[in-house]
Formats: sequence, C-alpha cells, structure tokens
Amino acid sequence: MRSVLLTGLTSVYVALLAGACAQPVAPAMEPWPAADMAAPFPTDNPSTPIKIELGRRLFYDGDLSWDGTMSCATCHQQDRGFADSNKTRAGFDGTAGERNIQTLANVAWMQSLTWGGPHVDTLEHQALIPIEGFVPVEMGFGGKPEGALAQRLSDQACYPQMFRAAFPERGGKIDMDTITMALAAFQRSLVSLDAPYDRWRRGDVAAISEEAKRGAALFEEKKCSSCHAGPHFTDAALGGRKAEESFHRLAVPKDGKDSGLMRITQKTEDAGRFRTPGLRNVALSAPYMHDGEVATLSDAVRRHFAGGGDDPRLQQTAGDGEVAQLVAFLESLTDEGFVTDARFSRPPAGCPVKADAALVAAEENGRRQHNSLEGP
Ligand code: HEC
Ligand code: HEC
Repeated sequence: MRSVLLTGLTSVYVALLAGACAQPVAPAMEPWPAADMAAPFPTDNPSTPIKIELGRRLFYDGDLSWDGTMSCATCHQQDRGFADSNKTRAGFDGTAGERNIQTLANVAWMQSLTWGGPHVDTLEHQALIPIEGFVPVEMGFGGKPEGALAQRLSDQACYPQMFRAAFPERGGKIDMDTITMALAAFQRSLVSLDAPYDRWRRGDVAAISEEAKRGAALFEEKKCSSCHAGPHFTDAALGGRKAEESFHRLAVPKDGKDSGLMRITQKTEDAGRFRTPGLRNVALSAPYMHDGEVATLSDAVRRHFAGGGDDPRLQQTAGDGEVAQLVAFLESLTDEGFVTDARFSRPPAGCPVKADAALVAAEENGRRQHNSLEGP
C-alpha cells in the first residue's frame, strides 16, 4: 500500500521536474525567510545587545575550562561554521571525545540539542554540558568546588561590569544561571540565512549554479527535505512535534558503538537513531556524522543510499551525477558573510562596558564596590 502511494508521489515529482528541467526554478514552497530574520528567545532570557556581547566574550574565554586552556571556540570555530575539522576532540585533560562537534548556525531554532539528547531542549541547559559534564569530560568544572567558575569570573576587572549591565534585574549576579543565559543569547545571535541558496530562494536567479539548482530539485525529489526540513535543514527546528521524531537511523550501530537515542530511552528500536543535523555551512564542517567517520560531503550523501536503515526514504539509489548535484546544492549553503561576520568572532581585548558612558553612570554605585577586584 505504502509503496503504491510512494510510486504515485514519485511520478508527480517526475512530472514537476520534467516541467522544470529546461530551467530549474526555486521550489515554490513556503516563503523563504529574510536574511535578517531574528532568532526566537525565551521570555525569561531576552537577547539584549549587551548580553549577547557578554556571551560572546564567555564563548571565546579559556577561563571557562578548569585549566584555562579551552574555550567553547576551541571546538566551535567560526571559519568552520562553528564546528572543527576533527572526527572528535579530546577534553581539556585529554579525555577522548565521543562525538563529532556540531555546527551552531541557527541553533536558536532547534527544539532539541546534541546528536542524542531529546531532553536537552534549551541552549541554557546545553551550555552546562561542556562546562560541567563527565561523559565525556570537556571543560572540566564537573566535580570542582561549587561556584569556582563564577568566582574566577568575578575576580576579573571586566566581567562584573558586564554582568551588571547584562543582568540588572539580578543585580549583576555571576552564577551558572547568568553565565549560561549569556552564552545562550550569543548563540541565538548566530543566524545564517544569506548563503547563495537563500539568495536564489529569494529571487536572485544567478545566485547558484545550474548544477546546484538540479541538486536543490533532487533534494526535494529524494525526500532529503523531509528530514533536513525547512530553512534550517533539520526537522529538529520544526515546532509542534516530539523531540524524538527528529531522530532517524541511517545504519544499525555495530556492537559497542554509540547507540544514539537508545542511550537515553533504553529502547532497542532507538539504537542508531540520531537527531537530524542542520546542513547550513555543511561544506565547511567535514568530517561528518555523529562519529565523524565520514570524511567527505559526497560520502556523507552516499551514506543515505547505503540501505542501512529500514526507512523507505533511505532505500533509494543515486548515481554519481546525482550525488555531485546534491553536493553542489549543499555547497550553496555556505554563507561567507556568516563565517566572516566580525560580530561572531573573537572579541577585542578591551572591556566593552567601560566605553559606554551612559552605562558607566548608571552602574556607578555597583562598580564602586567592585573596583578593588583587579584581575588578569
Ligand atoms: C571539547 C570540544 C567542545 C567544547 C569545548 C564545547 N563543545 Fe559544544 N559540542 C561539542 C560536541 C562533541 C557536540 C556534540 C555533543 C553530543 O551530541 O553529544 C557539541 C554540541 C554543542 C551544541 C549542540 C548543537 C546542536 O545542533 O544541537 C551546542 C549548542 C554547543 N555544543 C555549545 C557549546 C558551548 C556554549 C560551549 C562552551 C561553554 C561548548 N559547546 C564547548 C564539542 C565541544
Ligand atoms: C530519514 C531522515 C533523513 C533523510 C531522508 C536524509 N537525511 Fe541526511 N541525515 C539524517 C541524519 C539522522 C543524519 C546524521 C546521521 C548520523 O550521524 O549517524 C544525517 C546526516 C547528513 C549529512 C551529514 C551532516 C553532518 O553535519 O554530519 C548530510 C550532508 C546529509 N545528511 C545530507 C542528506 C541528503 C543530501 C539527503 C537526501 C539524499 C539526506 N541527507 C536525507 C537524516 C536524514
């Protein structure tokens, strides 16, 4: 029954494609978002400019690791779409990493975070995992005296001023709540919606190559877009559904390998299911998949045609030409403006709050109390 339905649908696609073949046009689906679409934020953590700036400073600060050597940006590098070029990366103390580092573009829209954590549903919660987590150890504050990181930041010259400016309603308190709230606000500012593909979807017919246009049509036809859905290219960014619905199995894991969603649910049918990754800037983030075992983009595409899973969408075939077209399409998701945007780069050394005379005046009292705290 299902295969009859699928065959029927395929012929509709073929008919549509035949019509579009002479000059591929952007699929007439939902209207495409503007390049400057703002990301959503929770009502209890509004993204103010000063909070985003504080989060940026924290993101690039090695002091967030126990020995001061590893920042979020050590692993999440802007020029790689906020991923890195390794299969996995060891934590600050050499503890082996377990999973491939994820990109962070448009992470604000994700309903669940990480490859295997349906319960990790806010950026505020997620940020605690690298800082304090044990599986694996990354930045190493887990098990250390409570408040050690907050104290370290309080002892510096700039952070107390920045926290007061960013969190006036909390009296500028520096604790794991405000640290993770600021990190989350910065990450919500990481919006990538101006790749050549976006410009094509918004009407610039010359923005991408003919090959990429054919790849974009194939991306629909081969149902890639049913999992890598919408403008963020993942069903994990679609609202109104259970987090588990964005977890899919490309292959059954070998014994002793990462079982993905099953680690959390303990259900055997969840073995090998991972959250659909977004595909923004994916050409910059090799190697691929949850384990980083796939070296190239074309092999990452081919992996979906290996017939490893039981999903009918993963039982299709594709020739080398089609794979090349899909890769050309994926390359058109590289947003040069995003990966070179100065607002997302390592912040300058000086303290940004001092420069703001109005803010300095407003914070006069609080700062006087802290003037004795001189740090590195
Ligand atoms: C040692 C390398 C490393 C460091 C340091 C690190 N991360 Fe990650 N990050 C990873 C890995 C690996 C994953 C995937 C983890 C998983 O799926 O279990 C990840 C996943 C994420 C995700 C989820 C993205 C998504 O699409 O779901 C976010 C958000 C994130 N990291 C933010 C941060 C922040 C904020 C910091 C600093 C406080 C940080 N990371 C520090 C390696 C790192
Ligand atoms: C049934 C849902 C599903 C479909 C359909 C699907 N994907 Fe995926 N895709 C995933 C999942 C899940 C992963 C991660 C798997 C893993 O890590 O083991 C993934 C990974 C990827 C990656 C690697 C991304 C990274 O950052 O590591 C690329 C590239 C990709 N898919 C492209 C495609 C293309 C092109 C198609 C169509 C031919 C497609 N996908 C169809 C679910 C899907």
